Amino acid sequence: MTETSPSQLPERVDVLIVGAGAAGLMCAATAGQRGRSVLALDHANKVGKKILMSGGGRCNFTNLYTSPENFYGENPHFCKSALARFTQWDFIALVEKHGIPYHEKTLGQLFCDNKSKDIVDLLLAECRAAKAQIRTRCSVEAIAPLEQGFLVDTSLGQVRCESLVIATGGLSIPTMGATGLGYEIARQFGLNIIPTRAALVPFTQHRRQLERQQELPGSALAVTASCGEGSFHEQMLFTHRGLSGPAVLQISSHWREGQTVEFDLAPGRDLAGWLQQRRAQNPDSYLHSALAEVWSKKLVQHFLQRQDIDSRPLKQYGEIELAEIGRRLQTWQLVPAGTEGYRTAEVTLGGVATDGISSRTMECKTQPGLYFIGEVLDVTGWLGGYNFQWAWASGHAAGEVV
Ligand code: FDA
Repeated sequence: MTETSPSQLPERVDVLIVGAGAAGLMCAATAGQRGRSVLALDHANKVGKKILMSGGGRCNFTNLYTSPENFYGENPHFCKSALARFTQWDFIALVEKHGIPYHEKTLGQLFCDNKSKDIVDLLLAECRAAKAQIRTRCSVEAIAPLEQGFLVDTSLGQVRCESLVIATGGLSIPTMGATGLGYEIARQFGLNIIPTRAALVPFTQHRRQLERQQELPGSALAVTASCGEGSFHEQMLFTHRGLSGPAVLQISSHWREGQTVEFDLAPGRDLAGWLQQRRAQNPDSYLHSALAEVWSKKLVQHFLQRQDIDSRPLKQYGEIELAEIGRRLQTWQLVPAGTEGYRTAEVTLGGVATDGISSRTMECKTQPGLYFIGEVLDVTGWLGGYNFQWAWASGHAAGEVV
């Protein structure tokens, strides 16, 4: 196995994989272990760039609680078969086999103790053991179907293959090498594309709103963010451009332009009732002092200002007035200006329509020998290690049959 780029490509291989990211490398190792000759191509200068930058440099490589409910797509059943046949436990076993130290951070999210590179090294070691070849700095120029297999023109020459696997990922972070090549290939072979959009992405806010929350960037709080059928209880972070943090990234996958996102700013608490109790216990306490038990001082000041509420001793508010204040402070309805888009999004919603793909093998139903795996497909996970688990599972499913 080599990751460097000798000028010559083999004339023919059993399996050609386009895209040496998470799914492509998993597929290469799995197919190679079956004795298939494998070549994985990537146009980037190194493999697995998104793995390297993932999880804040520590790669959230899977989730203990992965289940099909954690994925979006037109056909929510599509991901079931592959996820059941290569589970989070299978990937954890691989991580342990390679002696990579890891820990659960929160909500079942497993991260490397050291760095994401440990996961890339694991995949490269598996490819090496399987004698799978890898070429970087190699782009695909044209694909012609043959009677059996494909002829692929690349910037390093032509290759014939029996099976062609497309593992080019989604559109997020174009500076890391993301392209729409996988969608173009899908269209060439008559597959549909479910419209794509940036997901797991921060919200932007209008300038006027940002001016009003100038002092907040860096402040975080636990919220429940809801939009449509989605609802997530996690942290939210104020930024210079708008809102981020896990709750916001999660709900961005449900949000469409113009829709309102509702934030419960004191989840698990009935703020109206709680303020009544505080008034009974400590009537001379000021409203802002009581609220400082719930939020930071900076946030209390901002939330009171935003709602135009004066802070007085609690005994000076009537019962109904205090209940109303509690309700107004607890709920925040926001129509975001937009999202930060593919520039910072973690994933792409939509992609190659799964109705044209076998959920067991990832093979195109109308073009034998052509496979699509990973994020290029219309399968998108929640935040929390689910997207990598899909890359491993779909890569493995194809690797077993190509
Ligand atoms: P992936 O993007 O990994 O690989 C695609 C490969 O194809 C790339 O190497 C690319 O260079 C190559 N390629 C593209 N176009 C090509 C072309 N025209 N010719 C040749 N090669 C081409 N998920 C998760 O579960 N836990 C996490 O912690 C994170 N963290 C995270 C952080 C950030 C900043 C991002 C952007 C994303 C994440 N993700 C994540 C999501 C995760 O990285 C993503 O879902 C998987 O990498 C998808 O795996 P694929 O193999 O499908 O695509």
